[in-house]
Amino acid sequence: MHDILDLKKAMEKGNRARGLVYIKEKPEMRSGKRNDYMNGFFHLKEKDYPFRVWESDVYDIILEYGTGIYIVDTVGSEFRGAYLTVTNIDIYPGTAITQDDFFAGIPRHRLEQTLADVAAELMQRGTTEKCWELIDYTLRHADLEDRFMVEGAAIRHHDNIVGGLAHHTIKMLRILSALLINNPQLIESADLLTYAIVMHDIGKVFEYRDLTTSEYWYANHRVRGIEFLSHLKDEIIARYDEEFYRQVQSVIAGHHGLYGDHPTTVAATIVHYIDMLESQTTELVSQQLAAPGDRLRHPDFGFLHMIPLTGESGEPEVREEKDSNYRT
Ligand SMILES: [Fe+2]
Ligand SMILES: [Fe+2]
Repeated sequence: MHDILDLKKAMEKGNRARGLVYIKEKPEMRSGKRNDYMNGFFHLKEKDYPFRVWESDVYDIILEYGTGIYIVDTVGSEFRGAYLTVTNIDIYPGTAITQDDFFAGIPRHRLEQTLADVAAELMQRGTTEKCWELIDYTLRHADLEDRFMVEGAAIRHHDNIVGGLAHHTIKMLRILSALLINNPQLIESADLLTYAIVMHDIGKVFEYRDLTTSEYWYANHRVRGIEFLSHLKDEIIARYDEEFYRQVQSVIAGHHGLYGDHPTTVAATIVHYIDMLESQTTELVSQQLAAPGDRLRHPDFGFLHMIPLTGESGEPEVREEKDSNYRT
C-alpha cells in the first residue's frame, strides 16, 4: 500500500519522504554547470510543487513514461526557494489511486445528485421529460468518453477543478430556473434554454483534457461543441425539429457575447447573460477568498471593496464535502 505524498511536509528542508506523486505536465530538461538536470512539478489539489532530478537513471524513467503517477523518494531542498530533490523513482503499478485523487474536485456522485435536483426543479417550471431524455442521451454519447462530469470549466479562471464544467453548467441551470419564474413567457422555450445551457460549453470536453489544454485546443470549445452537436443532429430533429437544432447551434456559437461571434438569437443572448452572471460571481467570490487585505482588483472596474463571505480564506466552498451552503 502506498499513500499520496504529503508534499507540503516533504518540502521542509532536509525532510526525507516516500510516497505517490502525480506529474501533470511534461518536465523540462535544463543544462547545469556539470550535467543536465530535470525541472518539473508535482501536482496536488490545485497546487504545483517544484522538483529537480540530478541523476540520469532517475530522470530517464520520467522521460520515458511522461506524465502520470509515480512512487518517489524525495529530500526537501532549498536553493532560491524550496523544492524537492527526487532521489529514486518508479512508475506506480497499482490501480487504487487514480489521477483524480490528485485533483481538487467535486465528487461525481454529488454532481449527479445536484443535476437530478435541478432537473426536478426545472420540470416543475416547464422543462419537459422529453428534454431530460435528450440530455441523458447526449451525456451518454460515446464521443464524450463520459467526461462531462469530470472536466474543468476553465484553465485559470472559474471552476478550474475536476467536475468544474458540470458544476458551472448546473449552476447556470439554477439561474435559468429563477428566470422561468421571473419571466414566465420563457416557459414556451424552457426545453430549448435548458438543452442549450447543457450544450453551451460541452466542447470543453474536447478543448481541455484533465484540466489542461488538449492537443487540439486551438479549435475552441464553441467550434468543438457545434461539431459534437452535429453527431446528434438526426436524433435532435427526430425528437424536436430543425428549428430547435439550429437554435442550439446558435447558442453554442454566440454564447460569448462580445468576446466571439456575436449572438444572433434571443436564446444565445440570454444564455450569454446567464453564463456571465454565473462565472463572474464564482470568480469574484473565489478571488476575494484568496486575496489578502480588504480589496481586490477587477480588470474593468479597478479596486473593489470586499463584502463579508461565508467560508475560510483560500478554500473554495465547493471543496468542503460537508458544506451546508453548497446549494446556495
Ligand atoms: Fe464558453
Ligand atoms: Fe460557460
